[in-house]
Amino acid sequence: MEKKNIDWGNLGFAYMETDKRFVSNYKDGAWDEGGLISDANVTMSECACVLQYAQTCFEGLKAYTTEDGHIVTFRPDLNAERMENSAKRLEMPVFPKERFIDAVVQVVAANEAYVPPFGSGATLYLRPYMYGKNAVIGVKPADEFEFRVFCTPVGPYFKGGVKPLTICVSDFDRAAPCGTGHVKGGLNYAMSLHAIVSAHAAGFDENMYLDPKTRTKVEETGGANFLFVTRDNKVVTPKSDSILPSITRRSLVHVAKEYLGLEVEEREIYLEEVKDFAECGLCGTAAVISPVGKIVDHGKEICLPSGMTEMGPITKKLYDTLTGIQMGRIKAPEGWIKVIK
Ligand code: PLP
Ligand code: COI
Repeated sequence: MEKKNIDWGNLGFAYMETDKRFVSNYKDGAWDEGGLISDANVTMSECACVLQYAQTCFEGLKAYTTEDGHIVTFRPDLNAERMENSAKRLEMPVFPKERFIDAVVQVVAANEAYVPPFGSGATLYLRPYMYGKNAVIGVKPADEFEFRVFCTPVGPYFKGGVKPLTICVSDFDRAAPCGTGHVKGGLNYAMSLHAIVSAHAAGFDENMYLDPKTRTKVEETGGANFLFVTRDNKVVTPKSDSILPSITRRSLVHVAKEYLGLEVEEREIYLEEVKDFAECGLCGTAAVISPVGKIVDHGKEICLPSGMTEMGPITKKLYDTLTGIQMGRIKAPEGWIKVIK
């Protein structure tokens, strides 16, 4: 298979149209068989539920070329399960897990020429999503839906690759108590756009959101969960009902305990205690683990001892082990790797 002529090493996190995408439509209470299509555009009613009332949810996962030349994805079953939860919370029909995984496999296989080579630093990002497609004008769910998976080759989510980030404590909330923070609905990202534009304008890379009820506890950023490391090498990560259950974070908790023999605590983390941590990282599919060097809380700077030049040592070990598993250099736990080719 001849690869596309792409400058893999200089890709950012941006959309590039690829050859094929999977589409299935839901009508009269059932999903159709679906299949791969070439048209990258969507046509729908001007009054589609997604356009009026944001009835949409999505997922994000990656395909990798391993050291020995296979193409694999990482834990797509967990993306399917999370999308099931998102769909239920947003009154959308569930796209069955086996069909979700099969759609991902079909899209990767059909776009093999866009899967970045091993060692290029790039990966193929997959974006499964679902939206309410028919016209509704009163506030109610759609009854016709489209499920689609497209893919695009990507480089690092944050400019500068693994250079530590500076983030700020946001004055905005990304989630409400008893709201939708724990599901991957487009609405959570719509309301974060003003906050991220404001953070960038003030010179920050990302926002640290606090719990919406008391504004005293660390939640997550707009697109990643937090991992902290204590001065005695314990991994600590926030536990909250209003954050997205990151597949990367759940995987790293396992890696920390089972591969690196580290102690891990999943618990509430107060903003007040962040100054005592040795390392901080943002973890997610797009972010992988992006180190944080500085957190600014309304002018008060918290400088992590790991510094602004490179990842802290524990963060680096976690990063190397996780990416080693994804790229086939390190043996994966049973069921984590779905081989496509
Ligand atoms: N938190 C938010 C708000 C996200 O958008 C994402 C990205 O998917 C994550 C966390 C990380 O989740 P995952 O590791 O499953 O990609
Ligand atoms: C991902 O990591 O897959 C996400 O969905 C985060 C998004 C903000 C790019």
